[in-house]
Amino acid sequence: MKSIQDCAILHNGVKMPWLGLGVYKVKNGDEVINAVKTALEAGYRHVDTAAFYDNEEGVGQAIKESGVPREQIFVTTKVWNSDQGYETTLKAFETSLKKLGMDYIDLYLVHWPVRGKYKETYKALEKLYKDGFVRAIGVSNFQIHHLEDLMAECEIKPMVNQVEYHPRLTQKELHAFCKQHHIQLEAWSPLMRGGLFDDPTLLEISKKYGKSPAQVILRWDLQNEVVTIPKSITPQRIKENADVFDFELTPEEMEKIDALNMNKRIGSDPDNFDF
Ligand SMILES: NC(=O)c1ccc[n+]([C@@H]2O[C@H](COP(=O)([O-])OP(=O)(O)OC[C@H]3O[C@@H](n4cnc5c(N)ncnc54)[C@H](OP(=O)(O)O)[C@@H]3O)[C@@H](O)[C@H]2O)c1
Repeated sequence: MKSIQDCAILHNGVKMPWLGLGVYKVKNGDEVINAVKTALEAGYRHVDTAAFYDNEEGVGQAIKESGVPREQIFVTTKVWNSDQGYETTLKAFETSLKKLGMDYIDLYLVHWPVRGKYKETYKALEKLYKDGFVRAIGVSNFQIHHLEDLMAECEIKPMVNQVEYHPRLTQKELHAFCKQHHIQLEAWSPLMRGGLFDDPTLLEISKKYGKSPAQVILRWDLQNEVVTIPKSITPQRIKENADVFDFELTPEEMEKIDALNMNKRIGSDPDNFDF
């Protein structure tokens, strides 16, 4: 991985940039418009939003106003839990598309594995894929057993699984399972929302390369072949997070960062959530 525009190749051949901008909790309107425009100017070509984030309009507006052609940008959105089910997902997709002001989405994800609902939801995603409204489909917050359950019945294997992933939650088994099935793993909260920046191991490695702990973590994601979507609304950090293609961690450093794992989540447990 040598440039911010380098891509993972999904199992249907679609290219997905390894690094994107996450926009969870970024306010619709100027806040999200400025963040997305800054990212596109810095070379990002991938934005991760969701119906739940309530900022799809701003993401769409920023992309339109940026002057970067739509087809050069990889846009992900997700169907929210309260819309899960076949017909309701199709309707939710239409709403997302309208809010984004687009005529297709690059990646549509089932946001959480809502029990008793996610298979019907995924069938709607398969229809949207076959009808050409989405270039790739996938899931988020799925554990191995959710994937096995889904794959036993689905027609089109998910192309992506977006999960919480950072040095305190390295998801080794899930990652190996996804690799085996050619499902691209994608990291949410890759920076653990800032909770790791004073870790001595990361600080030591940062010092060696003249990089920040955030940049070391993002580089670790990339070398682990995990797509990563750090969120920031701060222009200097948006640029900093993209500047991770000019150094390489050694195998020993990768192992040292792996060893920070504590199986610790900052978000909800996909086997026990109530939303
Ligand atoms: N599928 C899911 O269920 C799910 C769940 C959560 C998140 N996500 C996706 O994943 C994306 C990223 O996760 P996240 O937003 O939870 O957390 P994150 O990216 O791990 O961390 C974001 C926080 O770190 C700060 N930050 C960013 N870059 C920094 C840097 N270089 N130095 C210091 N601080 C920095 C940001 O501050 P400022 O913004 O103030 O600069 C913000 O407070 C989300 O935006 C969303 O797109 C998906």
